[in-house]
Amino acid sequence: AKILALHGPNLNLLGVREPDIYGRETLADINAGLAEQAQAAGHELSWYQSNAEHELIGRIHQARDDQTALILCNAGAFTHTSIALRDAFAAVAIPFIEVHLSNVHAREPFRHHSYLADIAVGVVSGFGSDSYRLALDAAIRRLARPEA
Ligand code: DQA
Repeated sequence: AKILALHGPNLNLLGVREPDIYGRETLADINAGLAEQAQAAGHELSWYQSNAEHELIGRIHQARDDQTALILCNAGAFTHTSIALRDAFAAVAIPFIEVHLSNVHAREPFRHHSYLADIAVGVVSGFGSDSYRLALDAAIRRLARPEA
C-alpha cells in the first residue's frame, strides 16, 4: 500500500535545529530509513515536507486521489494551531498517525494541545527519530489487518 510521511514547518532543518531536543538525524536520513522500512514490508513510502499550511493541506487532498492508505504526520507547530489541517484530515478520511520527535507533554503548555490527536489513529511522541520508526511499524501492522 501507499504510505505518506508528511512533515510540517521547520522539519527541513532537522539535524541542525535545536539538536538537544530534536536529535542530529536529518530529514533526509529519516525519510530514507522509512522508505527502506516500508519497502521491506511490501509497501511504498513517499514523503513531503512544507513550511506552508496550504501546501500541507494540498498534499493531504492529493493523498485521496493517489490512493494513499495511511499518513504519518508530524505537523510541527501546526499541530497546536491548525484547525485547517484537522479539517483536511477529516475531509479525506485517510487514517493517520500523529508523530513528534520530542515529548510534547514534557514541554511548554502550548504544546500540550493537539488539533489532530483525537481524530488520529494514535500518537507517538518523545522517541526522537525512533518516533517515526515506531509509528511506521504500527502503520504496517494496521495495514496487515483485513479491516484496515
Ligand atoms: C514537534 C513538536 C512541536 O511542538 C514543534 O512545534 C515542532 C516539532 C516534534 O516533532 O517534536 O516543530 O512536532
